[in-house]
Amino acid sequence: IRVEIPRDEGLDHSLALLNEGYLFIQNRARRLQTDIFQSRLLAQNVICMTGPEAAKLFYNEELFVRKGAAPKRVQKTLFGQNGVQGLDGAVHKQRKHMFMKLMSPERLKVIVDLTKKQWMETSKKWVQKDQVVLFDEVQEMLCKIACEWAGVPISESEAKNRANDLGEMVDAFGAIGPRHWRGRGARARSEQWVGEIIEHIRNGELDPPKDTAAYAMAWHRELNGKRLETQIAAVELLNILRPIVAIATYIIFGAHALHEHPECMGKLQSGSGQYVQRFVQEVRRFYPFTPFVGARVRRDFAWKQYPFKSETLVLLDVYGINHDPHLWDRPDEFRPDRFNNWEGGLFDLIPQGGGDRDNGHRCAGEWLTINVMEASLNFLTNQINYDVPVQDLSISLSRIPTLPADRFIISNVRQRE
Ligand code: HEM
Repeated sequence: IRVEIPRDEGLDHSLALLNEGYLFIQNRARRLQTDIFQSRLLAQNVICMTGPEAAKLFYNEELFVRKGAAPKRVQKTLFGQNGVQGLDGAVHKQRKHMFMKLMSPERLKVIVDLTKKQWMETSKKWVQKDQVVLFDEVQEMLCKIACEWAGVPISESEAKNRANDLGEMVDAFGAIGPRHWRGRGARARSEQWVGEIIEHIRNGELDPPKDTAAYAMAWHRELNGKRLETQIAAVELLNILRPIVAIATYIIFGAHALHEHPECMGKLQSGSGQYVQRFVQEVRRFYPFTPFVGARVRRDFAWKQYPFKSETLVLLDVYGINHDPHLWDRPDEFRPDRFNNWEGGLFDLIPQGGGDRDNGHRCAGEWLTINVMEASLNFLTNQINYDVPVQDLSISLSRIPTLPADRFIISNVRQRE
């Protein structure tokens, strides 16, 4: 027996996606009372799915591939072309292994130390200013941290523009019009910059340490024994730099949560490492960043009697699963304590993808993200005091990606004794 997948009636829902943003899948799943429905988006048939069972299905590599899943407009901005995100099977595993080798506990400790040092140095300058836009400052800080960690030389004077470019590639995701075109320009400039660095490493002008990403991308050999083409090596090195800069978004959400829930402040200040971990997990669960992830059906199959046709695009509702009332008690409340006795499943807390990290497509930088967030929140709560002046702190769920409207302004920054 085959049962038709519930249908989101109408012609093409791309405009609705632009309007409803993070809630697009959730709104329809609730209205149609289903975890799965079919729709038309970007002029193609799409299956949208939500819930932990759907997540488990989505990460079954026998049934889904990533090749051709990301629309060209996303490749031209966020991902780049021919990078790890669009690979499958043995080629993917080998490339992914190279990424995971960069994430050893020793290397994570290095980035945590760089993060602490950068917060110290940068926040000293804030003391002399009336106010600073925290998001912009943190982006620039993270750009310097990312480059130093990855073995990419960057001068003090170029950090701001490079940070903007890395930020704009992410900001273009989900955009049409000028914001999309800014992202394309930013990617073109960044690939040019990083491509030259790869060439300089290969011709001996630069010699980054062996355990850095720059070294790994320049000298990695594919299964066929060949080095990566310069363009692909640049895309992969940007797959390290860009998302490290994107941690700024989560740090701002952390600052936002602290502001909205001052009761968390004391617990963070008491220095118990466990509380900061819970707080960071709750920031990643609660706040909107990745809306959904996409894959294509590898071959015809049926799930719960629903037909999945070869090559159909399937979207998994990342934001919705992080707010699924079957998984999370009162999901729309910010409560770090929900992680007190959390078992940690592979398909429930999925802000950075689900399933197996070493073999599947789950984010390579999840632990790095958590570590950098923890170090940053520890700094914000224990090393400085600041005021949050009146401003627009609202976070639109229709803009993908989103931020507090005024990018979190702080004033009257003081170093703590
Ligand atoms: C993949 C989110 C930070 C490197 C992903 C995926 C998501 C994601 C949703 C796709 C998962 C999937 O397709 O199933 C995020 C978010 C971050 C973040 C929200 C917060 C800023 C990082 C960092 C790094 C990184 C810091 C590296 C330093 C990667 C790589 C992939 C990936 C290389 C591709 C993995 C693959 O296709 O096998 N990330 N990420 N990410 N992320 Fe992250």
